[in-house]
Amino acid sequence: MNHQTSRQVVVRVPGGPESLELVDVPVAEPGPGQVRIAVAAAAINPLDLDVASGRLPVPVRPGVHVALGRDFSGIVEATGDDVALAVGTRVAGFVDGADPERGSHADRLVVDASDVAVLPDGLCPNVAASAPLGLTTAAQVAEIVGAAPEEGRRLLVTGAAGVVGAAVAVLAREQGWQVTGLARARDEAFVRGLGVDHATATTPGWDVVVDTAVMGGEALSLVRDGGRLVGTQPGREPRAERGVDVGSVVSRPDGPLLARLLARVAAGTLPARIHAAMPLTEVVDAYRLLAKGGVRGRVVVLP
Ligand SMILES: NC(=O)c1ccc[n+]([C@@H]2O[C@H](COP(=O)([O-])OP(=O)(O)OC[C@H]3O[C@@H](n4cnc5c(N)ncnc54)[C@H](OP(=O)(O)O)[C@@H]3O)[C@@H](O)[C@H]2O)c1
Repeated sequence: MNHQTSRQVVVRVPGGPESLELVDVPVAEPGPGQVRIAVAAAAINPLDLDVASGRLPVPVRPGVHVALGRDFSGIVEATGDDVALAVGTRVAGFVDGADPERGSHADRLVVDASDVAVLPDGLCPNVAASAPLGLTTAAQVAEIVGAAPEEGRRLLVTGAAGVVGAAVAVLAREQGWQVTGLARARDEAFVRGLGVDHATATTPGWDVVVDTAVMGGEALSLVRDGGRLVGTQPGREPRAERGVDVGSVVSRPDGPLLARLLARVAAGTLPARIHAAMPLTEVVDAYRLLAKGGVRGRVVVLP
């Protein structure tokens, strides 16, 4: 492997998985407070597919490609000034998406040291790579909904078999909510295994709906008057009605929070599932697999 360059999955003209390219880019040096990671595994999120297909337009300088990939696990390869992490430490994290030229579907990437978490002993890199964005988002949803009140504790999670939805179900239950997970019939055992009820269809009247299946207006119609809808697609929320508080989560990297979440994954108290692991060279097929639907857990690519 050439240490002066890194392979990076990019898209120049978004057009779905077929528009992805694996190109060589120069290896960046970490600045103050930053680390360079040799990527061990990188998950593909629905968000990556949205960028690759153009459903999520990314502002980018003319002539410059968009780098794909948020989630990663790997090993600290180089550190900038003021970084306590040692070279060789096993870490995981996610790229915040603010810089379209930085992505985790690559051999290497530079990130802020405060955004990564050290892997707990025994947690394998593939599972660690599947967790950061989804579980951080779930924890940030749990923060938004807070502890359940005395009255009005019925919370519906749409897409409860998904990465974000399953973790929201667990965390909300722990915060005292009476949680039902909306998911396919084939997901019933998994959803019940999270310690919550399962439904394939439901009726209106929920105090809170967390919409990880992106049902939009349909999810809003399930919220009682004056209740709350927490979406997962910022800027694409349905228009508020009937006094319903409508908002969305915008997840941000948070190393200490991720460390707590990974410890729970390692202990088996938060779900993390791998659907498939494929070489980075097969990234187009990996995105196709996700685009086909019905994926349970993450598809990860391995540099
Ligand atoms: N705002 C943020 O910062 C942020 C961060 C992370 C993720 N997200 C977004 O959050 C959403 C969920 O992400 P994820 O990673 O959890 O995705 P995921 O793992 O693919 O889960 C989505 C789940 O929803 C299910 N689903 C879809 N329509 C359904 C329906 N009508 N009834 C029941 N289940 C349904 C899917 O099942 P099928 O496969 O059978 O359809 C799948 O199990 C995505 O839109 C993602 O982009 C946002």
